[in-house]
Amino acid sequence: MTELRGKKYHIITFGCQMNEHDSETIAGLLQAEGCRQARERAEADIVIINTCSVRENADKRFFGTLGQLKKQKATNPAFAACVCGCMMQQEHIVGQVRRQYPWVDVIFGTHNIHEFPQMLQQLYRARSAFAGEDDEASNEDLIRMSDHDYTRAKHEIRSAKQTRVERIYEDKETIVEGLPAKRLYRHKSFVNIMYGCNNFCTYCIVPYTRGREKSRRPEDILQEVRDLAADGVREVTLLGQNVNSYRGVSRTEEPKNWDFADLIYALNEIEELERIRFMTSHPKDLSEKLIGAFRDCGKLCHYIHLPVQSGSSRLLARMNRRYTAEQYLQLVRRLRQAAPDIAISTDIIVGFPGETEEDFEETLALVKEVEYDSAFTFLYSKRKGTPAAEYEDQVPEEVKHERFNRLVDALNEISLRKNAACIGSVQRVLVDGASKKDPGILSGRTDGFKLVDFQGDESLIGTTVSVEITEGKTFSLRGKIRE
Ligand code: SAH
Ligand code: SF4
Ligand code: F3S
Repeated sequence: MTELRGKKYHIITFGCQMNEHDSETIAGLLQAEGCRQARERAEADIVIINTCSVRENADKRFFGTLGQLKKQKATNPAFAACVCGCMMQQEHIVGQVRRQYPWVDVIFGTHNIHEFPQMLQQLYRARSAFAGEDDEASNEDLIRMSDHDYTRAKHEIRSAKQTRVERIYEDKETIVEGLPAKRLYRHKSFVNIMYGCNNFCTYCIVPYTRGREKSRRPEDILQEVRDLAADGVREVTLLGQNVNSYRGVSRTEEPKNWDFADLIYALNEIEELERIRFMTSHPKDLSEKLIGAFRDCGKLCHYIHLPVQSGSSRLLARMNRRYTAEQYLQLVRRLRQAAPDIAISTDIIVGFPGETEEDFEETLALVKEVEYDSAFTFLYSKRKGTPAAEYEDQVPEEVKHERFNRLVDALNEISLRKNAACIGSVQRVLVDGASKKDPGILSGRTDGFKLVDFQGDESLIGTTVSVEITEGKTFSLRGKIRE
């Protein structure tokens, strides 16, 4: 695609690991067309904003960033402003972009990332075809696409003054395999094992933006990880909104039907690979077989992100989480029996509609009982189109904030205590990089996903070293390399 060769791109990513990995794929696709990564946004011809809808502040940050691109477009005739990601799967947001930011050039969704280079090419072709023509002559749709695979597909190219290419599918039945990805790190990689979500937690927008659950074939995942390992990757993080409900159907392997634990056992056999992690694990589907894998599989890191959301069984039912606080605590006990040193992190929502002081105190009590190594805490945020947004008993902002602060204090105290308890231990650390401020300081992650800073030479990046922990802070550890 000659139109794209030599162009410089820059990607801005909001949201979760899914989006981060999608951005790596977008970068891989553009590099395959001869584009180069710009050193900074200001020198880029193509800027892509990969959006997240999960909470309101993600929306706000997107519109703020988007506004800044208009000036850049005015000074560079080759400039393409592109937006994608979860927000583009919401019709009212796409409508807002069309109305308030009509100069946006390309809009695509979460199900058609693989078509982005082709859309860009259409944009550039249309621009050169329209050059010199008057507005009216060119105000037409250029291409219509076939939509057999999709429930909804849009594609428009508008007038000469403003050419825009849009394509968004509501969902997609098939999984596109074999897309290139430009990894952020040489030594570690995300690997999608499934897409979408079927759980419809009542607060959450993700099932609407990412579509229904679809699992990749186990042989495709195994091959990807073998290729990555051969290319120097030492750690893979398997991604899915709920990896515990992975159901892979194999065409080539026995058995035909694979669950998530089967996949872990098979990946554990890949020789050059050192570490396996995964995200995210829904408590309702965490199986005894997977708990067993923590005991049996040497490469499976002793770390689990197990979002609890609330410690009140009444609220958990209202959230449609389909487990009780007691069942959750039982899982934690089982995990610790299988792997006593397992590190556990979580997500908690504060101020879900109807949350009383008693409900909140149950959350505090659960947090103290589990003793999380770390946690992500969120103020409940109304998401248009989700059931909870319609609930009438919304919690006042000041009550949410007050509870949030109390929760964070309790969590931080526990994190600090747990990290201080690591002092004196020797941890295996996969070195991720050097500090920007001080290149003599390296940082990496322990098996339990704790961040460690220590002095060392940059040549160690990508290798696993033994580090003796000398200091435990709330969010990280410090240590020194042991020979
Ligand atoms: N699939 C993952 C979560 C993806 S969203 C899982 O089920 O664990 C990441 C986190 O964002 C959720 O765990 C939840 O804690 C938070 N979240 C999602 N929707 C939210 C909302 N409307 N308001 C506040 N937090 C929310
Ligand atoms: Fe959202 Fe629940 Fe699905 Fe996680 S499991 S993505 S919180 S609906
Ligand atoms: Fe956000 Fe979409 Fe991930 S809504 S959290 S980027 S799946």
